[in-house]
Amino acid sequence: MIEILSPAEVTRARATGTLVADILHTLAGRAEVGTNLLEIDQWARAMILGAGAESCYVDYEPSFGRGPFGHYICTSVNDAVLHGLPRDYALADGDLLTLDLAVLLGGIAADSAISFVVGESRPAESVALVESTQRALAAGIAAAGPGARIGDLSHAIGESLRADGYQVNTQFGGHGIGSTMHQDPHVSNTGRPGRGYQLQPGLLLCLEPWVMADTDQLVTDDDGWTLRSATGCRTAHSEHTIAITDDGADILTLPTGS
Ligand code: MF3
Ligand code: CO
Repeated sequence: MIEILSPAEVTRARATGTLVADILHTLAGRAEVGTNLLEIDQWARAMILGAGAESCYVDYEPSFGRGPFGHYICTSVNDAVLHGLPRDYALADGDLLTLDLAVLLGGIAADSAISFVVGESRPAESVALVESTQRALAAGIAAAGPGARIGDLSHAIGESLRADGYQVNTQFGGHGIGSTMHQDPHVSNTGRPGRGYQLQPGLLLCLEPWVMADTDQLVTDDDGWTLRSATGCRTAHSEHTIAITDDGADILTLPTGS
């Protein structure tokens, strides 16, 4: 089912989006060499509950994971790219960390992910991966103009990733969002322009380009959740929730003051 939100619901979605972004950026500021992934999960829990919001992850039990997720945020390090289950691991200088967070506030969900390098070093390949997903995300959002179809966004994302020399895996992509975290339509990270559902004002979408340095194959970790690159190469992921408006798209998951 595709949900179209009323203007009042879109206003509530903006509050959820700001909360998700503020939590992510606060956590990114605190994540340093020596920080444990389980601490990040506890900080996320405290901020979600402190804001009167609800986690979309803790009880989440999709077909692609083992049992309820049981944590408040996805923490994916280096070769881990999606659904990273927080574990007892202390971050090292130069680790590439992806934080992915979705919460429900006032009955509306928002979902966002950021990737960044921890500590002082700036490994060139990791920076390139992160910037590629950011560019692809911007290209997808720019394609969400009046009259656009899902295929236009998917095409823009895929072409941007490919122009940077990466292969595109189509097992996981973006999605509609609203009163629940995962809804139709699916937003593949590759596609054909002019195809698919035509965007309507009031639709919320999550766009989420992700890449792996030298493969398009994933493997599932022994934890039953964390998805890693099959070759062990590094990976990155960037995600925003956007609201379709009369004249384009608004990014909802930007931090306060940006
Ligand atoms: N936020 C992810 C997405 O973008 C979903 C994470 S599911 C979890 O679709 F259970 F792993 F948390
Ligand atoms: Co998502």
